[in-house]
Amino acid sequence: MFFGHWIMVRPTSAPYGGVVNNFDLTGRRAIVTGGASGLGAATARALEDAGADVTIAVRTPRSPNARPLDLADLDSVRAFADAWEGPLDILVANAGVMAIPTRQLSAQGWELQLATNYLGHFALALGLRPHLTDGARLVVVSSGAYRNGPFDFDDPQFARRPYDPMLAYAQSKTAEMLFVTEATRQWDDVAVNALSPGYIHTALQRHLDDDTMRAFGAMDTDGNLITPSYYKTPEEGAATSVLLAASPSVEGVTGRYFEDEKEAPVEDFARDPEAAERLWELGLSGMR
Ligand SMILES: NC(=O)c1ccc[n+]([C@@H]2O[C@H](COP(=O)([O-])OP(=O)(O)OC[C@H]3O[C@@H](n4cnc5c(N)ncnc54)[C@H](OP(=O)(O)O)[C@@H]3O)[C@@H](O)[C@H]2O)c1
Repeated sequence: MFFGHWIMVRPTSAPYGGVVNNFDLTGRRAIVTGGASGLGAATARALEDAGADVTIAVRTPRSPNARPLDLADLDSVRAFADAWEGPLDILVANAGVMAIPTRQLSAQGWELQLATNYLGHFALALGLRPHLTDGARLVVVSSGAYRNGPFDFDDPQFARRPYDPMLAYAQSKTAEMLFVTEATRQWDDVAVNALSPGYIHTALQRHLDDDTMRAFGAMDTDGNLITPSYYKTPEEGAATSVLLAASPSVEGVTGRYFEDEKEAPVEDFARDPEAAERLWELGLSGMR
């Protein structure tokens, strides 16, 4: 298991880092995947508060603004995209799973973290592409975990190497970074950016045991979460998504990576154009 690069100091900031007060999204239409919980719910709320018409794309719709989407099933992704009508100004690719303990496969036979975090969102973005307005924002919620390694084109599905829950997560997040690189090259009328939200205690950590939480520095020896010094609130964590989805301050910014509401450097392997193009082809082959 990898733990490198995961320890970060929680910055203190106002809810949403103060980014939500300076824009008006009246008349804009947005989709937030995974918008019923955690960061997605906080992101959807902020966009709604700014006046956007927000649809949350979720596995189990429970509210009038929710539509069904299972990212781990490309038939569901296709059905969601096919049912979408009219323009789309903002797509926040936020849903995700982390550290699934055993190797599981999606409906189409892809390793489940790669299928959910990367392939499902790739297919969704391509399916919704005809609806994206000129200057639309595509926000990819990746993770600092991507730094744990490049995409393994020899064995992306962990079919031959031992399955490692955190490495599979990291690889899926590297894939999301590479998607941004290639989408930026191909789509010059859409702003496509990636981000890491920082550390936020959500359902995402449900597969991590206490030893792993301690190794991350998120739990003390008595089993207590180290909050609030370690974790951001969901609103603080969502601030970078909201910034990239909506703020005029990043108008025209594309192909970048943000942390803590600021642009951050990217490891070369995660923006390598050849790897990005190769992954795009792999994604297309996965959709056939
Ligand atoms: N929390 C952190 O510290 C942290 C750090 C770095 C990056 N991130 C990233 O932030 C994003 C949001 O995570 P979170 O912390 O807000 O976790 P969360 O509360 O668990 O939210 C994840 C969402 O993804 C949805 N989801 C999972 N599998 C799905 C599928 N097959 N189809 C559709 N939706 C699916 C979940 O829906 P269900 O309710 O149906 O399961 C849930 O709403 C993720 O991409 C994660 O990798 C989080």
